[in-house]
Amino acid sequence: MSERLADIAVAMVADGRGILAADESTGTIKRRFDSIHLESTADSRRDYREMLFRADDAMRNYVSGVILYDETIRQKAKDGTPFVDILKAAGSIPGIKVDKGAQPLAGTQGEQITEGLDGLRERLAEYHQLGARFAKWRAVIDIGQGIPTYNALAANAHALARYAALCQEAQIVPIVEPEVLMDGPVATHDIATCYRVTELTLKLVFEQLYFAGVDLTGMILKPNMVIAGKDSPTQASPEEVAEKTVKVLKACVPPAVPGIAFLSGGQSDEVATKHLSLMNELGGPLPWKLTFSYGRALQAAALKAWGGKPENVAAGQRAFTHRCRMNALAATGRWSADAERHAA
Ligand code: 13P
Repeated sequence: MSERLADIAVAMVADGRGILAADESTGTIKRRFDSIHLESTADSRRDYREMLFRADDAMRNYVSGVILYDETIRQKAKDGTPFVDILKAAGSIPGIKVDKGAQPLAGTQGEQITEGLDGLRERLAEYHQLGARFAKWRAVIDIGQGIPTYNALAANAHALARYAALCQEAQIVPIVEPEVLMDGPVATHDIATCYRVTELTLKLVFEQLYFAGVDLTGMILKPNMVIAGKDSPTQASPEEVAEKTVKVLKACVPPAVPGIAFLSGGQSDEVATKHLSLMNELGGPLPWKLTFSYGRALQAAALKAWGGKPENVAAGQRAFTHRCRMNALAATGRWSADAERHAA
């Protein structure tokens, strides 16, 4: 595969393909495993990731790249094959989460700043050696009474831009992820509020990317969809979510960016798929690819079907492959409720 940043970015959003976010930190994967009453150990985490990465049909046909966590990029399958080699053999590009998580931002009412810039140049060099060709950094923007503040938005946009410039220096494609939460502590906001906050967030992020000299052809944007908070009394229709999301992206994302890969953010599996498909179906001609970079919405059914039991690996892989196929259809605007039932 080409090592040019722009070629890697294009491959990450190739037609009918998207990204698997399997970069849950040790704390997050423990919470996922708690839901199936499975103890989180290095071995159980390996077994779970191995089940996903060895779902060959899904990896070969629908998954362009996989975001790994520091432990996972160094981990080997049970038979000793490095995970990175399994992904590469299936034609899927290895990626790596490089942020160190969101911490309270001093001087604010509970807003957060993502950390991890110190020593990042050295970590990126090592990850490149380990096989990573793209990276991810997630900024968290919460909506609530009087928030987000300009201070929190600007600090997070600046950190994203410094991260992205460091990635490109290391020949790694940055996934730039500013997530406006739909499931924060007080998630009662309506879709119009999400639109306004997402618009301002993206404007500030692209301003900082410009100041930092980031080459837009060698990056991928990973945004939230424009959607009401999960506890909002006024939920928007799927058509409105699709329409407003495309509208804000057209207003804020330069056409030089090759692709936009959404996070699922707490939407149910099928709803996340439907929203993506509607955008590709109704959005008209778009300057960038619109695809998925889902964590929960690709994994939830597989995790449940597996349940931590070796005898359920094939069932877990079937559930995972099904979600990948449905989202691959959505990435080209061809998903339907019929396809969902038929294949299930
Ligand atoms: P979700 O799709 O579960 O939101 O996760 C995607 C992700 O990578 C968040 O950083």
